[in-house]
Amino acid sequence: MAEQRTSIHGQWSNRTVFILAATGSAVGLGNIWKFPYITGENGGGTFVLVYLLCIALIGLPIMMAEIMLGRRGKRSPINTMRALAKDEHRNPGWAWLGWMGVVAGFLILSYYSVIAGWALSYIFRTAGGLFLGATADGVNSIFTDLVSDPERLLAWHTVFMVMTMAVVARGVKNGIEKAVTVLMPLLFGLLIVVVIYAMTTGYFMDGVRFLFTPGTIDSKGVLIAMGHAFFTLSLGMGAIMVYGSYLTSDHSIVQASIMIALADTVVALLAGLAIFPIVFANGLEPSAGPGLIFQTLPIAFGHMQGGTLVGVVFFSLLVFAAWTSAISLIEPAVAYLVENKGLSRIQAAEWMGVVTWLVGLGTVFSFNIWKDKTLTIPFLFEKFTFFDTLDYLTANVMLPLGGLFIALFSAWVMHQQSTREEMATYPLVYTIWRFLVRFITPLAVIVVFLKAVGAI
Ligand code: PFF
Repeated sequence: MAEQRTSIHGQWSNRTVFILAATGSAVGLGNIWKFPYITGENGGGTFVLVYLLCIALIGLPIMMAEIMLGRRGKRSPINTMRALAKDEHRNPGWAWLGWMGVVAGFLILSYYSVIAGWALSYIFRTAGGLFLGATADGVNSIFTDLVSDPERLLAWHTVFMVMTMAVVARGVKNGIEKAVTVLMPLLFGLLIVVVIYAMTTGYFMDGVRFLFTPGTIDSKGVLIAMGHAFFTLSLGMGAIMVYGSYLTSDHSIVQASIMIALADTVVALLAGLAIFPIVFANGLEPSAGPGLIFQTLPIAFGHMQGGTLVGVVFFSLLVFAAWTSAISLIEPAVAYLVENKGLSRIQAAEWMGVVTWLVGLGTVFSFNIWKDKTLTIPFLFEKFTFFDTLDYLTANVMLPLGGLFIALFSAWVMHQQSTREEMATYPLVYTIWRFLVRFITPLAVIVVFLKAVGAI
């Protein structure tokens, strides 16, 4: 058995805090901004079904694996992978998996911060009464004005990066623990308020039908659904692993994982139920793309009783959801710099903040001055901007690839005795988990990959 390690970064006060922090990481722009628009772009029902299957068969087992690896390794993902490989008398070169996660995390944060910046600016737009009585066209042009102005996007991107790094510099444990406890339930409550409004539009059932009636999906859609399962659960890059490293050994990984995945899925479905009825009620296109929620929800806020207040609180909470995710995106890198380069948390956060901010400029410009600078992605034959490319590469390639190797590592590289030690509470669940990560999860990821590139 591996020697009992402790994390030099501290540990969570209790299990609930860990679940809240991991849920804070999982619930973010992915649920409220991305899930509705990719569902819209990929035709609805069948996409949702594939996504739910991916959550259950691929996401959940990998989440258990990541928490298990982190809790056993007690270090940043790079050092955890190296240490665990050594424990098992395997090649310490497995640290590369941690490295890929660090790169994926900072690439995701670079664009995540720009989109969170949109949400930040919408707090003020809503507060200023800009959407009162607004039509779909009016709301649309407010959105277009924002994204076509690089200076404004840059300013909001900067504000969000500073917010994120300020928390990371202080340590994840202090501050974030308490804030998450209050704000996550509030976000949930507000989503329900918007769902109730959506019920009054007369188009609620159209939304339900769109989300849950099977239609058609192509192999690219399946890849996007799988990629999103990874993205929304924060898997495949070490975010959940690093949070697991701050967890003590006396808690059930299985229970925690189920709660996190369930909360994340419910929030995504609620976001869909809030948004699609509004889309249909206002004659908008579900396939509008990344601007979807910014072009739909303000219409609801502009027409409902107390809509300005609800809108302000909603966008504030969207920012908070993004914030708690952003922190976890950069934590693996910061923890590594503290462990290996002797930097203080403040210095590590500053460095990572500057580099991520710079890469974020590419996304800022993707919506305006670089709008037409596109790249044709192999196998897809679609024209992608810098932002599209980063989003596609991270969510649909790097995270699933990271997840695939996390599954392979915990199922084939680690000895059964080691994983059993960590997950012994429910023997039957352990057996199912091990079967899934040994065979089903890797096979599913590989098949989806091969299908998406047309190899099968
Ligand atoms: N899960 C987050 C969301 O749905 O917005 C995004 C994310 C956070 C992805 C952390 C990956 C990650 F490691």
